[in-house]
Amino acid sequence: MSNPQQRGLKRGLAIVAALVVIGLGAFAAYNWLAPSKDEGGSGQVAIGGAFELVDHNGRAVTDKDFAGRLMLIYFGFTHCPDICPTGLQTIAMAMDELGSAADKVTPILITVDPERDTPAVMKEYVEAFHERLVGLTGTPEQIAKAARAYRVYYQKVALKDSSLGYSVDHSGFIYLMDGQGRYLSHFRHDATPEQIAQRIKSKL
Ligand code: NI
Repeated sequence: MSNPQQRGLKRGLAIVAALVVIGLGAFAAYNWLAPSKDEGGSGQVAIGGAFELVDHNGRAVTDKDFAGRLMLIYFGFTHCPDICPTGLQTIAMAMDELGSAADKVTPILITVDPERDTPAVMKEYVEAFHERLVGLTGTPEQIAKAARAYRVYYQKVALKDSSLGYSVDHSGFIYLMDGQGRYLSHFRHDATPEQIAQRIKSKL
């Protein structure tokens, strides 16, 4: 038995607990979707890490295969209607903007749709954007691990009235990593090629 005062207290505690849960959830979502920039300072931002994937020529690769050059990494998929093509076009233009310095950068598309994006599909797609663009796919588990390392959100979404069957929602940041695969910076998908090229040059 509880008197009205105790019931009121219980309700108050329940509301406080709910608000704390909502607050923590929002904070976690913010950190997940909006990694902070690492502008100087000694603290390493926990974005990036080891990956084992398959390139667009069907060759098994790891992050170590890209060591020694900066990596410009974008997660997307070949059936993406507009955001990915725009982001990849921007990356391609940034590479051209860099001129000879582009040799020191590897632009990479990692698919979030490994079921449809086989190496052959990736090859045709990346070659349409830039001769240097590398397409990476893998097993769903390999992709999930790489996406987790880069804090990339992706989620399959069923499309009712489309022959495509499904789409994949995903976050659209472009990550700039150093020659050892450590995080340097990131860009929104709507950054300009000039902005990206400029920041790359400042890190070379
Ligand atoms: Ni996309």
